[in-house]
Amino acid sequence: MDFFVGFWNNLDYYGEYEPIMEQMTRAEAEKRLTDVSNKAYFIIQRKDGTNIGLTVYFGQSSESITIGYAIEPSEHGKGYGTEALQLMVDYLFLTKEVHRVQADTDPENKVSQHILEKVGFKNEGVSRKSSFVRGQWRDEYHYCILREEWKETRILTKTA
Ligand SMILES: CC(C)(COP(=O)(O)OP(=O)(O)OC[C@H]1O[C@@H](n2cnc3c(N)ncnc32)[C@H](O)[C@@H]1OP(=O)(O)O)[C@@H](O)C(=O)NCCC(=O)NCCS
Repeated sequence: MDFFVGFWNNLDYYGEYEPIMEQMTRAEAEKRLTDVSNKAYFIIQRKDGTNIGLTVYFGQSSESITIGYAIEPSEHGKGYGTEALQLMVDYLFLTKEVHRVQADTDPENKVSQHILEKVGFKNEGVSRKSSFVRGQWRDEYHYCILREEWKETRILTKTA
């Protein structure tokens, strides 16, 4: 819980392109984690047990689900974002009946676009001025990977 509260209240973790969230008390963070309908948060942890980021999935419908991810700045550029994204895609296609996994990103967020494309997502288009970020309306790119493009697990193993 401490990690969630610390992460959600630290603006540095969202980078330049994500909307600024309201500061949150521990009770509000607990509510956010337990009040989950169609949504789940996961901590990204290094092999040595250090918590370094968060991923989330939300908005599952019969065909699609959307994901988000963030790594703490001191751990950027070490491959953790790509690995966490791949792991989430494996997990969702293995455990959910969806045929699309989606992610939205700012057109200037080149690192996010790079890791999405590396994992196999394709850019499906843009919603113009649809996201209010740090005082201005900004465009959003919509990325998606289809089940048939995923083909097989790369990190997780199917056990049942
Ligand atoms: C997006 C984010 C999760 C990436 O995490 P990360 O752990 O740094 O990512 P990785 O180390 O796995 O990969 C970074 C890749 O971006 C590449 N990269 C770095 N700067 C780049 C740039 N300006 N343009 C394109 N690619 C770039 C790196 O070379 C690396 O690719 P490679 O492994 O093929 O060489 C992280 O930057 C973050 O948390 N940002 C803030 C929150 C955010 O924007 N989340 C996404 C919301 S859609």
